[in-house]
Amino acid sequence: MNIGILGIGKLGLCFGLNLEQKGYSIVGVDIHEGYVHSINNKTLFSFEPRVNELLQSASNFKATTAIADVLLDDFPLLFIMVATPSLPDGSYDHAQIEHIAEQLIGFGKRDKQIHLVIGCTTMPGYCDDLAKRLEHYNYTVSYNPEFIAQGDIIRNQLYPDQVLIGEANETAGDLIEEVFTQLCENKPVYCRMSRLSAEIAKIATNCFLTTKISFANSIGDLAIKVGAEPEKILHAIGADSRIGNKYLSYGFGFGGPCFPRDNKALGLFARNNDYALLLSEATDEINKRHLTFQWQDYLKTYSEDEKIVFDGITYKKGSLLLDESQQFALALLLAKAGRKVVLRDQEVVLTAIKKEYGNLFDYEPNP
Ligand SMILES: NC(=O)c1ccc[n+]([C@@H]2O[C@H](COP(=O)([O-])OP(=O)(O)OC[C@H]3O[C@@H](n4cnc5c(N)ncnc54)[C@H](O)[C@@H]3O)[C@@H](O)[C@H]2O)c1
Repeated sequence: MNIGILGIGKLGLCFGLNLEQKGYSIVGVDIHEGYVHSINNKTLFSFEPRVNELLQSASNFKATTAIADVLLDDFPLLFIMVATPSLPDGSYDHAQIEHIAEQLIGFGKRDKQIHLVIGCTTMPGYCDDLAKRLEHYNYTVSYNPEFIAQGDIIRNQLYPDQVLIGEANETAGDLIEEVFTQLCENKPVYCRMSRLSAEIAKIATNCFLTTKISFANSIGDLAIKVGAEPEKILHAIGADSRIGNKYLSYGFGFGGPCFPRDNKALGLFARNNDYALLLSEATDEINKRHLTFQWQDYLKTYSEDEKIVFDGITYKKGSLLLDESQQFALALLLAKAGRKVVLRDQEVVLTAIKKEYGNLFDYEPNP
């Protein structure tokens, strides 16, 4: 079966390479000629684990800049995986999806129905709206977001806990489920529902995780304040099987490209619908207060001439991303307060920091 992927960036490229390994013929569409060329002649270098190796061994993965290459009768499924960056109000910018929708409309009504599958994170309600506009042109629109973390995308796609399918109809839902049955190397739970429910479920999952992290950090902060033991308390709480230990350690606040923004977007969606989702706002506020608490605590714990070493400064160990990294935010506050701060991480991360902050820190690249 042929599958088209519109937007073969971080997520789409991994998805396409994984599907190709499972026997699908993939055509990936992107807008940057040089990037497309580097995929086709296999010179692309990615920091994402296993991507270079999968690209080298791929024999049925073609990249193109021409959307017409996938608007063919033998491409029943088109996944859309373009970026949806956050706008200042916390909502997602759907402009890249809209651009694709305009292109599709420009090609006119399809003789044979095409099932579009939105893999991007969208504001709840967006996919229903898009579906209405594309129905006339013989497209269905389903929603199928992924729960992946950069630094582990290939593996996360092969071993998801759940596959969330906001289906346009049963036929589209069955087709998507079939693809994931071929793709996954585990037995995920298939969660099929309406598009709107799936859009809410995607960001609400991340809101729950941020809530758990903020809960753990506030209990830990309180424990430190009164001279109790954060880790022991949290270990005991997590031992209760109704709660579980995952995401329940005391540590840095949450960051990265998904958690903070999905949490905020859910709060905004709720507010826009006259519902105050207090948890979303509280989690965010706790994350900020926790940073201040840790800053004060480090200033007290370390003497003025003592080195403070951060062993890993990206938002998550193994990733190369500094996006909303709370460990980096803390390091920055301490360095600006005149403390000697040593950053240890991969060379590429430290080089980027050094470019902006120069000698504010000491740098020790990981071997
Ligand atoms: N990266 C993550 O960690 C992650 C995790 C979960 C969800 N998501 C969601 O997945 C979506 C994709 O994220 P990403 O990180 O892969 O983004 P990305 O920016 O890495 O990739 C998007 C790609 O789409 C291409 N593109 C833009 N306009 C296009 C068009 N008109 N036609 C074809 N291609 C076009 C871009 O050139 C780029 O290569 C986003 O909605 C994001 O929120 C990402």
